[in-house]
Amino acid sequence: MAAAEQGVDAARKEKEEEEEEQVVNPWEVSAGKGGIDYDKLVDQFGCQRIDDALVGRIARLTGRPPHCFLRRGLFFAHRDLNELLDLYEKGEKFYLYTGRGPSSEALHLGHLIPFMFTKYLQEAFKVPLVIQLTDDEKFLWKNLTIQESKRLARENAKDIIACGFDIERTFIFSDFSFVGGAFYENMMQVARCVTMNKAIGIFGFNLEDHIGKVSFPPVQAVPSFPSSFPHLFAGKDQLRCLIPCAIDQDPYFRMTRDVAPRIGYQKPSLIESRFFPALQGENTKMSASDANSAIYVTDSAKEIKTKVNKYAFSGGQDSIELHRKLGANLDVDVPIKYLNFFLEDDDELAHIKKEYKEGRMLTGEVKQRLIAVLSEIVARHQRARAQVTEEMVDAFMAVRPLPNMFG
Ligand code: TRP
Repeated sequence: MAAAEQGVDAARKEKEEEEEEQVVNPWEVSAGKGGIDYDKLVDQFGCQRIDDALVGRIARLTGRPPHCFLRRGLFFAHRDLNELLDLYEKGEKFYLYTGRGPSSEALHLGHLIPFMFTKYLQEAFKVPLVIQLTDDEKFLWKNLTIQESKRLARENAKDIIACGFDIERTFIFSDFSFVGGAFYENMMQVARCVTMNKAIGIFGFNLEDHIGKVSFPPVQAVPSFPSSFPHLFAGKDQLRCLIPCAIDQDPYFRMTRDVAPRIGYQKPSLIESRFFPALQGENTKMSASDANSAIYVTDSAKEIKTKVNKYAFSGGQDSIELHRKLGANLDVDVPIKYLNFFLEDDDELAHIKKEYKEGRMLTGEVKQRLIAVLSEIVARHQRARAQVTEEMVDAFMAVRPLPNMFG
């Protein structure tokens, strides 16, 4: 091959690689060709994989079967979870911290996943929980007014409460209402430890970004430190923190863990999930602007049925004859991916997978089962949310001690 041709070839190869490069950060999730490569992500980010031994350990320590999100590898990565469990085993409790950026009125099923899982952790370990509503973050990143972000935070709090959190162990706060005092002091301690170079390296900020963005990461960092909540954890400065989140939030906590020892605090531990795929498939993203890319918790049974039947990407074959012969490709099949999250019965799930893969079950039948499962979850959520009053929101968000939170 001539040298010039080789050069062109190399350039094309480089370009292809670039196009395939996946991007995962708190503001952008875009997959390469074959969907998100989670193995690569774990290596890139430097977190650890959750293996069967760790799942077994959690089951033993909590005396209950592990949540199906854990059993099925949906929460698949962690940081320092073993260390946290070592201490728990010795009788040292911890607290949970998670959050939500209130950017939309209605949550979709993907938004509920960290909260469903956090509720399980709270019950299983009997520990307190703080939930941060980053109305400031969404003000900075989305085209929202402060009033609108605050309103969305309160609306989203209702959906979160509807997941069933225990009011005696749970504090929900919005940044606009709560930031100040000890929380703000911690923010400044963190801010002083992070150079522009570091922030650009971690978050990919550029010089055209407004400085509000650059100043935000400490806000999400400091709920990891118990001293940010004097009304909850006064005198418990070394209490450990466990953060359940989707893996796109990892950059915030990489920064947090890097800074923690320098300001005399413990590093938070993390337990991290995969992304919940869009109806159209693994390498597309659920988008707030496309109502047909996700199932919302406000959808009616009829809407769920239509969306699943019409939009859920199928790994089945084009004709029944071919399907009977070749079976479905489960790796790309969205109904199977959704059932993996939400069909709790392990035996039934295994049965469906086998029958579908070997062509005895058709896509339509799998979708029908999925529609039933999702409709039930969504209906249950709607009933629970209808019970959540303004007074309950006030009660969860009140700055108050949590009596008996480790009991
Ligand atoms: N940044 C998150 C979002 O946009 C919200 C958030 C704040 C969060 N603190 C968190 C998520 C802790 C997980 C864990 O949704």
